[in-house]
Amino acid sequence: KDERIARISSAIRIIPNFPKPGILFQDITTLLLDPKAFKDTIDLFVERYKGKDISVVAGIEARGFIFGPPIALAIGAKFVPMRKPKKLPGEVISEEYSLEYGTDKIEMHVGAVQAGERALVIDDLIATGGTLCAAIRLLERVGVQVVECACVIELADLKGRERLGDKPLFVLISSD
Ligand code: PRP
Ligand code: MG
Repeated sequence: KDERIARISSAIRIIPNFPKPGILFQDITTLLLDPKAFKDTIDLFVERYKGKDISVVAGIEARGFIFGPPIALAIGAKFVPMRKPKKLPGEVISEEYSLEYGTDKIEMHVGAVQAGERALVIDDLIATGGTLCAAIRLLERVGVQVVECACVIELADLKGRERLGDKPLFVLISSD
């Protein structure tokens, strides 16, 4: 397992001062260029969630759309996209969350999930945790049980894990 984590970690590129001065951007596009490291990433999640009776994998736009679908297929769950506002054509429910400046929203189609389903929420990275919290609220509002949230990378300094409260968070790489 450590060997796989090491491969994943070295496939992620760090770009300083993007999108703003002082930010060390964790670029997962280089992970996607390395089929072995990308497969290891998906396998580690699948090994954890297979057989856990999860019927929904909810992926957060945009980078949660990269990791969520292969996991959903491998564990036999449906994939539900949680999108940025005004992208979904059907009836939606939405949740607002705060950014450094202002607010943003994520939306999900009404009817995509049923009360009582068990969901896994996937994104590439947790920073402040605001995005994942909004995704959890959205699913819980319609009676879905969020079993766990999973990300490739955690920026531990930003304490997003604390913001999730008692909701379990699983990450492959924790960095500061
Ligand atoms: C990034 C990242 C997570 C979110 C984490 O997405 O992919 O979704 O920020 O931040 P938080 O924990 O502080 O909420 P971003 O909104 O930049 O958009 P993208 O995935 O569409 O590129
Ligand atoms: Mg994102």
